[in-house]
Amino acid sequence: MNKRVLISGASRGLGLCFAKKYLEDGCMVFAGARNEGAAGLKELKEKYGNLLVPLQLDVADTKSVESAAEAASAYTAHLDVIINNAGIHSETSFLELEDADLDDCLPVYDVNAVGPIRVVKAFLPLLKKGESGLVVNISSESGSIGTAERIKEFDYCMSKAALNMGTKLLHNYLKDMNINVIAVHPGWMRTDMGGQNATQDPFETAGRLTELFEEVREGGNKAVFMDNTGEEYPW
Ligand SMILES: NC(=O)c1ccc[n+]([C@@H]2O[C@H](COP(=O)([O-])OP(=O)(O)OC[C@H]3O[C@@H](n4cnc5c(N)ncnc54)[C@H](OP(=O)(O)O)[C@@H]3O)[C@@H](O)[C@H]2O)c1
Repeated sequence: MNKRVLISGASRGLGLCFAKKYLEDGCMVFAGARNEGAAGLKELKEKYGNLLVPLQLDVADTKSVESAAEAASAYTAHLDVIINNAGIHSETSFLELEDADLDDCLPVYDVNAVGPIRVVKAFLPLLKKGESGLVVNISSESGSIGTAERIKEFDYCMSKAALNMGTKLLHNYLKDMNINVIAVHPGWMRTDMGGQNATQDPFETAGRLTELFEEVREGGNKAVFMDNTGEEYPW
């Protein structure tokens, strides 16, 4: 049976690449996006028809997340994989402390750290009905406290560290329901967030990661926080 996959932040960047990759593999994709009519999704819809279900999904808005879960349940009785991919940086993230606007931190925390937990809460009934479900939280090396050397990006780094903790709590809670939860650092990718100097192509990354997620679903990788090769990453 082909997998049923929910992806947040599927309008562009890595999220859109995940949607494309899973569709190429014949999976049914629930593409959550603030603008579910985004150009990239429209193009995929024309090519893949009913295999793609665009969902209006703002991960910072509980009502939007709950409505998306309700809308998805009209198309499927279960989900196999949830990829919490939506993520942001604040405008002042790269300024040093004296110039940074710390009020920018909360919206980033809301999207990057709380958003994925909101999504899992709302979609849990569908995930529970699948066999060996997997939740992937797209984190970052910047959320690793053990390896931290930066002096700024408080909003982003702190939100990803919090996401890592959220991952561990969900991992502990859901393991008895046969649902695995992991956090992954995808690497530095050429997207709007990563910029054009980044070392990785996001579609190639999506391809490598979807293979890794299958290995994890089959129980072959026990790490909870990992890099894009499946190696355990320091918390
Ligand atoms: N790029 C890198 O090098 C890199 C490195 C490490 C980790 N990551 C992580 O990888 C993930 C994907 O990043 P990316 O590089 O693809 O970024 P991106 O190109 O900036 O895309 C971000 C995506 O998140 C969506 N989004 C933002 N706020 C949202 C919200 N409130 N609700 C739903 N969707 C929302 C955006 O939707 P809109 O189109 O509506 O804005 C967009 O689809 C992020 O979690 C990021 O932190 C990226």
